[in-house]
Amino acid sequence: MVVITLEIFAVSTVCTQVCPDSEVLNCYNDEYDSCSDSYVWQEQTSVCGMCGACHQYKGFDELCNSDDECQPGYKCDSGMCKPESDTCYEEKHDSCLQWTPVCVGEEYAPRQCKGVRAQGRCYCADTKGVRIFGEQVWSKAENMTCGCSRRVEELKKTRNDVSLHCNEQGNYETLQCDDGLCWCAEEKSGLPTSRIVPEGMMTMLYCYNETEVGSQYLRICESQVIAQAKIEIEMEAHGTINPNFPYLICDSDGTYSAIQVNDYNQAVCVWKDNSQLGYATEQNLKAGMTCRCALDRKRYPDIQLKCQSNGNYMESQTMGNGTDYLVDEDGFYKLDTSACPTTTTTTSSTTTTATGTTTATTTATTTVLIV
Ligand SMILES: *[C@@H]1O[C@H](CO)[C@@H](O)[C@H](O)[C@H]1NC(C)=O
Ligand SMILES: *[C@@H]1O[C@H](CO)[C@@H](O)[C@H](O)[C@H]1NC(C)=O
Ligand SMILES: *[C@@H]1O[C@H](CO)[C@@H](O)[C@H](O)[C@H]1NC(C)=O
Repeated sequence: MVVITLEIFAVSTVCTQVCPDSEVLNCYNDEYDSCSDSYVWQEQTSVCGMCGACHQYKGFDELCNSDDECQPGYKCDSGMCKPESDTCYEEKHDSCLQWTPVCVGEEYAPRQCKGVRAQGRCYCADTKGVRIFGEQVWSKAENMTCGCSRRVEELKKTRNDVSLHCNEQGNYETLQCDDGLCWCAEEKSGLPTSRIVPEGMMTMLYCYNETEVGSQYLRICESQVIAQAKIEIEMEAHGTINPNFPYLICDSDGTYSAIQVNDYNQAVCVWKDNSQLGYATEQNLKAGMTCRCALDRKRYPDIQLKCQSNGNYMESQTMGNGTDYLVDEDGFYKLDTSACPTTTTTTSSTTTTATGTTTATTTATTTVLIV
């Protein structure tokens, strides 16, 4: 049986009298992050299924009798609530991680931060926790929603000509054009703040700025990709399929993605304007390439960490005083995994808490090392 807050319970019992017809109600308290600890936000669970509400569940390691009593994403395992495998919650309780992912429902929150607020950095992530376009230093990330990055990733699954533009922190740029239409958008939500007009009338929108945009909404990378797609269609129509066709990838702000393949079939790291950053590998090793070290060193001149020749962070780094330590794929301090229990699926709670303590102490020194 699920324990529900008294207030909500009262509302749902009188439900049939309160709202016989589906009137539009003003839902109060309608934000997932407004729930306090041990409460979980669930959409459409109160006021006749029209509003969301905070529901109380048993949390990590609390005693339980059945799966329903545990928070979404947790199961009742030998009388205690434990995270389900391969969920955000499992990673959250992983004692070998030096950072704690933020989970919403059973998924990863759009914004994930590493390090500490003063010096750390935040990234946009998809619902599975995979890093996507958009980042910001933590101290300036209060308005970072990653709403645009998430939306673009979603649209790209069905269309290859998505031209929404996200800003560097994954929010919406104010001028948006997609699918032949343009409008002004609110930065965090992406909701239109103007009329939606045909692309030809873009310059009449109040958010259009000639200095910033010029006469062309599409940025160089996007224009090239669309031009290439047209050529490819032409070639196919004439029976030619060129397997060595240059394959450009653009970021969700319309600039060049960090990893590109050059004319010599090498995978290389490039900056937003397609200029080389001096890191490369063979094309068949491209899948293991992140270019994150190469990009971070250009973006944040304070970062002095060593990169591999393919632009990834070198796992082993050396402090000024000669002590060696390890960093993760984003350049943040991580534990030596040989000191970690192999956390594949179910880790026993005792090991977790035992190493959990060491984790906490080492985290304090982390940030000093990195920035
Ligand atoms: C966040 O948004 C608020 C309200 O628009 C604004 O006052 C504030 O300066 C913004 N913060 C940052 C870091 O941009
Ligand atoms: C247009 O963009 C430029 C460059 O960012 C800026 O200096 C200028 O104030 C903007 N103009 C308007 C009308 O917002
Ligand atoms: C180097 O500095 C780190 C962090 O300040 C410290 O933990 C470590 O013990 C130092 N190593 C030596 C050899 O002094």
